[in-house]
Amino acid sequence: MNILLLGSGGREHALAWKLAASPLLTKLCCAPGNPGIARECEVVALDIADHAAVIAFCKTQKIALVVVGPEAPLCAGIVDDLATAGIKAFGPSREAARLEGSKGFAKDLCRDNNIPTAAYARFSAAAPAKAYARAQGTPIVVKADGLAAGKGVFVCHTQEELDAALRAAAAFGDSIVIEELLDGEEVSLFAVCDGARAVPLPAVQDFKRIGDGDQGPNTGGMGSYSPVPVDADDFAETIHQPVLDELNAPGTPFVGVLFAGVMVTDDGPRVLEFNCRFGDPETQSLLPRLEGDLLELLPGAARGDLSSTRL
Ligand code: AMP
Ligand code: GLY
Repeated sequence: MNILLLGSGGREHALAWKLAASPLLTKLCCAPGNPGIARECEVVALDIADHAAVIAFCKTQKIALVVVGPEAPLCAGIVDDLATAGIKAFGPSREAARLEGSKGFAKDLCRDNNIPTAAYARFSAAAPAKAYARAQGTPIVVKADGLAAGKGVFVCHTQEELDAALRAAAAFGDSIVIEELLDGEEVSLFAVCDGARAVPLPAVQDFKRIGDGDQGPNTGGMGSYSPVPVDADDFAETIHQPVLDELNAPGTPFVGVLFAGVMVTDDGPRVLEFNCRFGDPETQSLLPRLEGDLLELLPGAARGDLSSTRL
């Protein structure tokens, strides 16, 4: 099987390392890759935002499956464009990727499907968001609605932090979510999905804050570890499966990795966010623990058939 992996970070290096170990692999290419990934496979200087160029490469290289690492190409519809060209990909369509592309969309989906999440309100302008947040008071969480590479969420304990957060969130756009602050153990819960079924992967935790001792602003993740003291199997039925059912019903099935960021509170688990891809940096501690073959799992999901998958 010839595979093209898209992306250039530690997540893609971990994916390249695991894919390269599969006996089912014929050739692995990664675009644009990085020097570490170049130790695992051939790196290709393709602009992955140029979907026509990616499609042309897949055709000349007889690529059987494109594995999409980061969220930006998914939200830009690369899987839809590959499908139109007759090329299979592991990752959700643009419509299904809205789960990550819009926090408001994800929050409403949780509310409508009884998926436990923090209490929240959505705003399409900064002024009412500010009035609402000030009325609620601190502690409170401010979230820019769209993609922000992990830097659009502000956990505010003081009025000064809240005012700064509202200004910072507004810089990402007018759409803002304000939600209650949750306390607990945060876990990253991944499931490989074929549109209808979710196959849970081992749970992981990442270090969120930029500084040592859990200090400073949130980041996309400064490092990660696994195993962690929760069992991923306990969450798939109540968190991942209702999302798949909801997206399947209107004909926008979710294929790819459905990643739930969950706070395990004293009152039970609460979803903080959904992502539509493998976590970065979590993939680096997740994949060494995975005994199964990614080249059985990922093409099975892309075909819509994980029914006989065992990990
Ligand atoms: P998100 O991108 O929505 O997952 O938010 C980024 C990070 O901010 C999360 O991984 C949490 O560490 C933190 N966070 C987000 N929402 C909340 C919340 N409601 N309560 C406490 N921390 C939160
Ligand atoms: N580490 C969290 C993320 O990948 O968004």
